[in-house]
Amino acid sequence: MLAMVAAMAVSRRASVPAGHVDPHVWWHVGRASGLIAWALLGASVLGGVSLSTSLAGRRTRSWTTGLHTFVAVLAVVFTGVHMAAVLAADELRVGWVQLVVPFTRASAPFAQAAGVVAGYLLLAVALTSWLRGTLPWRWWRRLHLLSFPLFAMACVHTVLAGSDADHPVLLGTSAAAGAVLLVLLGYRLLVAGRRRVGTLGARGGAIPAVARAESSPVARAESSPVGGSGAGLRGAADPDLLTLTVNQVTWEAEGVVSLVLAAGGGVELPSWEPGAHVELALPSGRVRHYSLFGDPAERTRYRVAVLRQDDGRGGSREIHRELPVGTSLAVRPPRNNFRLEPSDAYLFVAGGIGITGVLEMARTVAARGERWRFVYGGRSLSAMAFVEQVRELGPDRVDIVPMDQRGLPDLEAEIAAQPPGTGVYCCGPPPLLAAVTRLVGGRPDLRLHVERFSGVAASGGAVIEVALRRSGHVVQVAPDESILTAVRRVLPSVRASCEQGICGSCRSVVLAGEPEHRDQLLSDAERAAGEMLICVSRSCGGRLTLDL
Ligand code: FES
Repeated sequence: MLAMVAAMAVSRRASVPAGHVDPHVWWHVGRASGLIAWALLGASVLGGVSLSTSLAGRRTRSWTTGLHTFVAVLAVVFTGVHMAAVLAADELRVGWVQLVVPFTRASAPFAQAAGVVAGYLLLAVALTSWLRGTLPWRWWRRLHLLSFPLFAMACVHTVLAGSDADHPVLLGTSAAAGAVLLVLLGYRLLVAGRRRVGTLGARGGAIPAVARAESSPVARAESSPVGGSGAGLRGAADPDLLTLTVNQVTWEAEGVVSLVLAAGGGVELPSWEPGAHVELALPSGRVRHYSLFGDPAERTRYRVAVLRQDDGRGGSREIHRELPVGTSLAVRPPRNNFRLEPSDAYLFVAGGIGITGVLEMARTVAARGERWRFVYGGRSLSAMAFVEQVRELGPDRVDIVPMDQRGLPDLEAEIAAQPPGTGVYCCGPPPLLAAVTRLVGGRPDLRLHVERFSGVAASGGAVIEVALRRSGHVVQVAPDESILTAVRRVLPSVRASCEQGICGSCRSVVLAGEPEHRDQLLSDAERAAGEMLICVSRSCGGRLTLDL
C-alpha cells in the first residue's frame, strides 16, 4: 500500500521543476498522508477481521494482535497529519469549522461530511481501544465494530474528495481490499450466526448424533469412565445434553492441546461464567470434566484445554491421540462450582493446567479495573500454556514462574502481601492447593476458593451401614469401596460423574447420621443443610440415612 502511495506521489511530483520547493507542499502532504491513513485503516480493519475469524492461529495471535494495534496507531497518526495539512493548505480553504462540522463545505459536501464522520469514528475507536483494560469486554467489542463504518466513511471521503480518485492504482487496491474484506466478513458471519442451540432432547436426537463445535482450554479431572455402572453422561436421550463437534485442535504447550467445540451453523450454546466447566463423554465412554476458557460472550463455541497424563486413566490420552477434528461428543452444559465472588482484591494462583480454571477470572477482574495479582507456576515455560495471555493481562501484576528456572513460587510472600478482604482463587495440582490452603489458613481475613482437578480417596476406614430412606434399601459399604459404589448395587441409576468429589453430580441429602466430608466442593452452608458427596465422603461413625 505504501508503494502504491509512493507511485502516485511520484506521478504528480514530475510537474515541479528540479531545485524548486513546491508551493503546494501542504496540499501534497495532505494528499499523501490521507492516502497513507486510508491504506493503514484498511490494513488494520482487515487484520482485525482476520483476528475475529480466528484465521490468525493461536500461536501467532499474540504478534498479529500487536501488528494490528501498531498499524491502527499509525493510521491515527497519519490521520492527524492529514487534518493538520488540510488546514495548512491555502488552496483548499478548509477552516476549523469545515474540519469538525459535516456538510459545511460548499464544494463536495458529502465528501467533507464523510471525512468528518470518519474522524469522529476514529476518535471513538481509538479512545475505547486505549481504555480497553478498563471497559467491560462486551462494550469494547461492540464499540470496536465502529471500525467498519469508519473504514467505509474513509473510503467515501478518499474517493469523492481526493484528487486521485481515478488513479488506477487506487481503484485496483480499493477493489482488492474490498473483496478481501467482504470474504472475511462473510466467513465471520457464517461462523458467528446467532441461532440458539437445541438440546438433544429438544431435537429428539441421541447422544452420538451431531454437528460441529469449537472449544479450547483447560483440563480438569481425570474422572471415571461411564460404564455399565451408569455414571456420568449416559447414552440415553438426556434433554440436558448437547451434541457438539470438535472443530479445532490446537497445540498449546508441551503436553497440552486445546479443543474448540461447537454445535454447527453458528447456533448459540448455553452461557457460562468464568470458573465454569463442562462434562464431555468421550467416544470410549469415559467422562471427563474440563474448565472453560475464552470469551464467555462468544456464544457459539466452547474451549477447553487438556493436559496429557500418561499415568492417568486414559481420558487425556484418548483426547490427545484419538479425537480428530470432526468428532462428535455429548457435552453436559456448563456448571460452575468455582464462581468469582465480589472481593476487595484478588489473588489468582495457578499451577500447570490449572491455568484454565482461573484465566478468565483474572481477565474479568482486570477488565473491571479492580485490584488483582496473578501467580502462575509450571514445570517449565515450554510446558506452560497461555503464558502470553496471562502476561498481557498486566505484566506488572503477573508473576510467571517456570520452576526449572526459578524454583517454587514464593506463595508465602504473595499471600502475606495481600490486603484484608482479598479473594484467593487457586487451581492446580494437589501440592499447590495444599500449600495455598495452609498459608491462607493463617490469614482468616482472606477468602480461599479452590478448584481441584484430581480427587481424593473415597475408601479407607470402617465398614459403613447406609440406609436409603425412599427406596427402602440398606447397604454395607466395605472399607475399600465408596458409598456410591455400594449404593449402585441396589440403585444402578443413581447419578454420578467424576467420582472424585469434584463435579457435585452425586450430591445426596443426609437424613440421619454424621458424614465425614472428604470433598472440597461443598460449602459449609451446604454441609450444614445435610448435603454430602457420596462418591468420596464417608461416615464419622455409625449409620447414615440418605434421601435416596
Ligand atoms: Fe462428582 Fe461425586 S460424582 S462429586
